[in-house]
Amino acid sequence: MLAFNPLQSCVKASAAGTAVSPNGRNVVTVGVDAGRPYYLVKVDGRTVVDSSFVSLEFLDGTLGANSELLGSEISSFDQTWEQPWGEETAVRNNYNALILHFREADSLSRIFDIEFRVFDDGVGFRYLIPAQNGVDSLVLMDENTRFNLAEEAVAWSIPYDTEYYEGIYKASPVSVLDTVCTPLTMKVTDSLYLSIHEAALTDYASLNLTPENGTCLRSYLTPWSTGEKVFAQGSLKSPWRTIMIGNSAADLLLSRMMLNLNEPCVIEDTSWIEPGRYIGIWWGMHRRENTWDIGDRHGATTENTKRYIDFAAANGYSGVLVEGWNKGWEHDWSADGTCFDFLQAYPDFDLEEVCRYAAEKGVRLIGHNETGGAAAHYETQLDSAFALYNRLGINAVKTGYVNRLMDGKELHGSQYAVRHYRKVIETAARNHIMIDNHEPVMPTGLQRTYPNLMTQEGVRGQEYNAWCPEGGNPTEHTVILPFTRGLAGPMDYTPGVLKYNYEVVPGTRPMHTTAKELALSVVLYSPLQMSADIIENYVDQPGMEFITTCPTSWSKTVVPQAKIGEYLAIARRDRNSDSWYIGAITGTNVCNMDVPLDFLDEGATYTARIFCDGENADYRTNPYDMDIHEMDVDSRTVLPLNLAPGGGAAVIIAKKR
Ligand code: NOJ
Repeated sequence: MLAFNPLQSCVKASAAGTAVSPNGRNVVTVGVDAGRPYYLVKVDGRTVVDSSFVSLEFLDGTLGANSELLGSEISSFDQTWEQPWGEETAVRNNYNALILHFREADSLSRIFDIEFRVFDDGVGFRYLIPAQNGVDSLVLMDENTRFNLAEEAVAWSIPYDTEYYEGIYKASPVSVLDTVCTPLTMKVTDSLYLSIHEAALTDYASLNLTPENGTCLRSYLTPWSTGEKVFAQGSLKSPWRTIMIGNSAADLLLSRMMLNLNEPCVIEDTSWIEPGRYIGIWWGMHRRENTWDIGDRHGATTENTKRYIDFAAANGYSGVLVEGWNKGWEHDWSADGTCFDFLQAYPDFDLEEVCRYAAEKGVRLIGHNETGGAAAHYETQLDSAFALYNRLGINAVKTGYVNRLMDGKELHGSQYAVRHYRKVIETAARNHIMIDNHEPVMPTGLQRTYPNLMTQEGVRGQEYNAWCPEGGNPTEHTVILPFTRGLAGPMDYTPGVLKYNYEVVPGTRPMHTTAKELALSVVLYSPLQMSADIIENYVDQPGMEFITTCPTSWSKTVVPQAKIGEYLAIARRDRNSDSWYIGAITGTNVCNMDVPLDFLDEGATYTARIFCDGENADYRTNPYDMDIHEMDVDSRTVLPLNLAPGGGAAVIIAKKR
């Protein structure tokens, strides 16, 4: 460990370089003080991140302990690229960059770079160690990236050791945080919001933050079981460390800095990548009415799957997820996933026939590969399983890693697991398969490079509303998620439970109204989105009209109302039509919000079809009370939405012909 005070703010050395965001508001200054590189971030002249020293501790020496600045370069970039699916079509990637070249004045004399990109919506920086004589195998023991926040802030966090990130985000002052996961979202003042995370996590360990002193946070990389953080050969490129900066909570939701810091798409032909809405043989198992393994109550039978396919075809769903179709569930799989076979179906599930039937109906089967965390075992079947699925027309697979450890040893956020997840995404891409990854490492925007990585869990989702012993997800949960986990990318939360007619644990059910459940389809972005309920519960449900027409890919997104943990309204324009969809939600409190429709085309008239809480709706006593009505609107309309306790509103706005 280095012996110095990281909070020492009177840095003596002069700045080595400065980079300013295109709009001039965010300024990064980088300097070297007694051989130690540091950076500092100002927003509108106000110091937001004070002098923060950075260093990399390798087994054979530290970079950043006695560094000599060799030179620096500045450059600018402004390009707009298109997403094959997403919250908008066009993304502008506009930043000014500063790259600094260092040599460490120790016996190894290694050179390294620190590269900064300063955007209007934040700052990203990373470490690069180029191939050079004397650099063979690198063993990173600790990355000391500091975020020395200049002032106290409210932070929404989950603890570092939250299993699969399935936690309830809690608000607290930064200065009392323990080690936490990223994204770490913070409110500094009413007009200054920050979120620290990372982008482009590749062959490295995932980032967490640990308190160092007061409001200074330091990186804590998820370790290997043997204690090291990262192994590299010849050269090393860290993921980007990101500080998202916004004037409002809404700004955070519109930042695309994380995507911009990922590499462009490497899949040449993306025409096979199809966002869509799916149903699944799933909720029945979580309701404990069906089983994954074969037996009297087996969910994944040929007959039941055909019923789901028929329902999907009749209601415009593109896919049917089938869990429990393959051999292995009859064993203690969550203890040892090597029991799973990803090619062999149970005898009561005719895989070929079901796929043939699905194709006839214009629906795709969504495969399910629960691994029980046995990643190495899964890798032995990956190529042949994905080739089989491709031949059968299965174009999406939901993967799962239910086990505290991968292969009985390594954490989901470790470099070991990061390598495995990447292998799955790449193998899937070669076989034209989209991935919905459960129990993942926290996402970092890789879907820009691999747009077949559609969605991931890493969130306390709907399933907790089936069986969680402490009750369903708190009412505020979904009003916090978009600002926290949601900033890391699409979430497979699986909204769409319309009937609470089950009781695995008394009192455990979705803690909101039907209108809010509909609104979540817009609010919680996922390009593959499951309607979670059993199909019986969808028959004759008026809310189905909203769920089945709501798109999963958008050309534009705006955020008219946002207060973390209290309320949120998001409006999105369909990729394939002129229609807009609004999802508005509240926590436990009544919320009467106004949504200005100034995003509509000027001069055009539209019909708004509004699915909102009924007069007596209340998530505690009357969750199903929903009112559906229509009104004419245009770009001058300010739409009043009255949300009940735990309530919401879902709106379809269609252009009049
Ligand atoms: C946990 C996943 O989140 C859930 O969706 C799945 O049904 C089970 N694991 C079984 O794989």
